[in-house]
Amino acid sequence: MKWLRSRYVFPLAIITLIISLCLQCAWIRQLYLAQRKSVSTELEFIVSDASKQITYKSIAKGHEKSARFQQFFLSQEWLSLRQAFDELKVDNLRSQFHYGITNDSSVVEMKMSFLNDAKKKIDHKASAVTDGKSQREVSIEDQRDLKVMDSLINHRLDLLGIQINRNYALYDYSEGKLVMGKIPTKTSSSFISGKYTYNLKFQNRYQLVVPNISWLIIYQMRYYLVSSFLMLLLTAAAFYLLIRLMKNQQLYAQARMSFTSNMTHELQTPISTISVALESIKKYHLIDEPEKLENYINISRHELQRLQAMIEKVLKQEQMDLGKTKLQFSLFDIQPVLQQVIYAMDVQVREKNTELVFLKSDEPCFVKGDAMHISNVSYNLIDNAIKYSPVQSKIEVSCNIADHKLTISFKDNGPGISEIYQQQVFERFFRIFNQDNIHNVKGSGLGLHYVKQVIELHGGRVDLHSKPGKGSNFMIILPLYEEN
Ligand SMILES: Nc1ncnc2c1ncn2[C@@H]1O[C@H](COP(=O)(O)OP(=O)(O)OP(=O)(O)O)[C@@H](O)[C@H]1O
Ligand SMILES: [Mg+2]
Repeated sequence: MKWLRSRYVFPLAIITLIISLCLQCAWIRQLYLAQRKSVSTELEFIVSDASKQITYKSIAKGHEKSARFQQFFLSQEWLSLRQAFDELKVDNLRSQFHYGITNDSSVVEMKMSFLNDAKKKIDHKASAVTDGKSQREVSIEDQRDLKVMDSLINHRLDLLGIQINRNYALYDYSEGKLVMGKIPTKTSSSFISGKYTYNLKFQNRYQLVVPNISWLIIYQMRYYLVSSFLMLLLTAAAFYLLIRLMKNQQLYAQARMSFTSNMTHELQTPISTISVALESIKKYHLIDEPEKLENYINISRHELQRLQAMIEKVLKQEQMDLGKTKLQFSLFDIQPVLQQVIYAMDVQVREKNTELVFLKSDEPCFVKGDAMHISNVSYNLIDNAIKYSPVQSKIEVSCNIADHKLTISFKDNGPGISEIYQQQVFERFFRIFNQDNIHNVKGSGLGLHYVKQVIELHGGRVDLHSKPGKGSNFMIILPLYEEN
């Protein structure tokens, strides 16, 4: 799949994310509009139902047990009928509503009459259930019903789960004029209910006003919003991980290729040296010159040892990667081990005129681990510090105990490692190639990978503090062995 190059994957992922973001936005907008309708219907229902309930309560005295009475006055049809009757106000239409109780029945009368003389103006009137009460008494009862109606509506609005700002307006029943409250200009985010009576005394009509229902709509959509946000987040995370994985794989493939060419070159050098030596022995009859012969044999032996060491290193690494390496744990002081390694590196140190110092700790640093592997780890880290630092540089090896942990530090003042490579240097085969001074340094890219694996098998970790141009500090942190 040549067209599926990694450089196309990133823009493709971004385009996919943008498209899904747009689709989500369009979907949320549609949902918002649908939800706005449903919220308006819900609020309208709260007011209309409260009107039905309060009206019923205001006339139910003595009829509480009557199922028919309840069935009638609490029906939706009755509410619609009353609402239609209240709303129907045309010129010259006289509406008369009468509710009364006779000896054996309750009477509901709705009467509408048109006046033939269109010029004569008449009022819309409705007779109320006053039961012979004075206008003042009727007013007081009306105020009480209004309060009950408002508190019932407030209670039901509170049950919606979110505090919403609301108020109400009152209209005179027969005149239709606003007598209390303020009506804001209707916008797409405001809600203004229909006008409802709340008793049969026909004094005023109630209207609920919610200036802003946006938060209520958003609150009701919360699960959709969260899930859509999560979906986007998960998609982005999945793309991010995939791209990272691809990049890592690419790096790994590159590193493997360079490892192969590196190794081939490394293996070829001793082989050609040995074959040249053998050729020369034969060609120049060196059998007759024992001194020269010995010299050529020594060179060949040395090259063969190098070859063997290299093959062993790769095989050992292979075994460690397969988890076949078994560590031989024992209790030992790490300082003599470090000193031995430093001693063994004398040739390299002299060759590069490096100053390698060991800052000894006063107390012994006991660890439970595999001494051979820990010594290999130290060798690798000092070898790197010498290899990658310029001549006459300074390397400090130290050992410290703090917080029940043992820290062994390998600090150099070499080229340093840029932040972007600080994790990758621990990957198998990884080598930094763009550092001028380490271009020609030989290596297989296995050393730090081995260090990390061994230290992790000991329950520790490797920290790297480094800045380009300011040197590197590789710190091995191991759990300290303590006698209970
Ligand atoms: N002290 C250091 N200073 C600067 N760069 C370093 C240092 N140690 C390691 N590196 C960088 O990290 C890379 C990986 O190191 P690592 O020891 O794993 O491999 P290597 O030295 O190339 O090969 P090997 O150790 O297997 O012979 C090196 O190629 C080098 O670029
Ligand atoms: Mg190395």
